[in-house]
Amino acid sequence: MKKLRSQEWFGKGGLHGFLHRGWMKNQGWPDDLFEGKKPVIGICNTWSEFTPCNGHFRELAEGVKRGVWEAGGFPLEFPVMSLGETNMRPTAMLFRNLAAMDVEESIRGNPMDGVVLLMGCDKTTPALLMGAASVNLPTIGLSGGPMLSGKFQGRDIGSGTGVWKMSEDVRAGKMSPEDFLAAESCMNRSKGHCMTMGTASTMACMVEALGMSLPHNAAIPAADAGRSRLAHLTGRRIVKMVREDLCMSKILTRKAFENAIMVNAAIGGSTNAVIHLIALAKRIGVKLVLKDWDDIGSLVPCLLNLQPSGKYLMEDFCYAGGLPVVLRELVEAGLLHKNALTVNGKKIGKNVAKAECWNRDVIYKHTEPFKKSAGIAVLYGNLAPDGAVIKPSAATPSLMQHSGRAVVFKNIEDFNKRIDSPDLDIDATCVMVLKNCGPKGYPGMPEVGNMRLPPKLLKQGLTDMVRISDARMSGTAYGTVVLHISPEAAVGGTLALVESGDIITLDVRNRKLSLDVPDEILMARRQKLKIPPLPERGYERMYVERVEQAHEGADFDFLVGGSGSKISRDAH
Ligand code: FES
Repeated sequence: MKKLRSQEWFGKGGLHGFLHRGWMKNQGWPDDLFEGKKPVIGICNTWSEFTPCNGHFRELAEGVKRGVWEAGGFPLEFPVMSLGETNMRPTAMLFRNLAAMDVEESIRGNPMDGVVLLMGCDKTTPALLMGAASVNLPTIGLSGGPMLSGKFQGRDIGSGTGVWKMSEDVRAGKMSPEDFLAAESCMNRSKGHCMTMGTASTMACMVEALGMSLPHNAAIPAADAGRSRLAHLTGRRIVKMVREDLCMSKILTRKAFENAIMVNAAIGGSTNAVIHLIALAKRIGVKLVLKDWDDIGSLVPCLLNLQPSGKYLMEDFCYAGGLPVVLRELVEAGLLHKNALTVNGKKIGKNVAKAECWNRDVIYKHTEPFKKSAGIAVLYGNLAPDGAVIKPSAATPSLMQHSGRAVVFKNIEDFNKRIDSPDLDIDATCVMVLKNCGPKGYPGMPEVGNMRLPPKLLKQGLTDMVRISDARMSGTAYGTVVLHISPEAAVGGTLALVESGDIITLDVRNRKLSLDVPDEILMARRQKLKIPPLPERGYERMYVERVEQAHEGADFDFLVGGSGSKISRDAH
């Protein structure tokens, strides 16, 4: 084994060796732990009581530590910024890049040889992967696991998806506010993250599909003893990874990303993964662009009957065999790159060769898929010159080719003010347009793209409309929703020029999103366009100044790439 990186701190003589080792000894560590025989394993923890999905991560870390000790390592846990989707305002995504900076600098600046990333709630997964990728030590991911299925009035209800549905039912007068309140406790029954195939579960699947975790990471519920076992095994494995010098860049190859794109389609995964994986690829030096999602994933069938695209929940997915079954189906379909390396040192195809399915109503065969051609479609046109995305598996088939009159909301506040008005001039054939919710326009690009439908149409039985915006959408949401329009309105994208009454055409088959307004009229509108000023100070100002557009991953331009694990300057 080559000399451990941690020895650059703990192996020093004289004053500086004293400083690095001595203060650590106030925690009771004996001398021999610093002699360079045991790899120091950092456990990067996003635990926070404000992040309920990650509220059990101290226990999870204890499981990892058991494995690290057993394998001959020296585990040291450290906190990083925790991003909870339900509490963090204005939106957790505003802080993904900040958390990634925290992770990167915490790893690089401390004496560790390998890292375990504890990830759960939506943004914690990409933030940790991105930060760690820019350092590129031996690294392994461990997700916190989904909650148990929600149970309410004799039926299953899923995180997010069930809430959107029940909320619409309350607004349409089909559910009482009292029942709605009672559902809060029945949906969230155990530790863990959202148990639909929302962004958290999607990203946990991405971690496994990328080869960045041990098999079965994605689906084992947080409350299952299997999750603690996985934590233990993850701790054991990272010590070996350090000895093998199996760093992140050996796992995160172009083929690994292609596998993840295919898996995203096969699981009916969240559109948020598009942004996160592009950002991650750029951190590790892999070329991945928006169109790859369409080229590689759009023809891949959806195999999973999970909410929001289907019926079941993550707990059912686990019992049916979990992600290894989906991966095996994709291998048998001749799609997956089976030779992609994973953190256990084996090829992904080998890992899943014996995966068995125990419930074919949850995980379908590739020969008889749940939905055909289910990947994310990337749309272009004068309304989205750099692209926009739609998740066909969550959309209404009859709306995938549609022309309609635009009803424009200039920002989210305008939307909230007018959407419930009985006087809103809108009908079922209209296209709802929301502006100024992109990365810069509403810093952090909130998940408001699945605009709630006008109550007056809901009461007539309407269930979906075409909605377009530069915003994101919760992975638990559904509908014919075009998202991530790039360039966004706030930087003068065509979206900024749309006016109510314009005709917009969505043509998913031909990958088109167009504004049917003559160029000269658009030019005249552009002359009058005002770009919003920068926020006055603080992190938000830096964010708006430096964040890239959605199709580029919405990372900060100065964080793209990595700097490795070497310390640039050393005052010691
Ligand atoms: Fe944390 Fe959904 S709110 S995963």
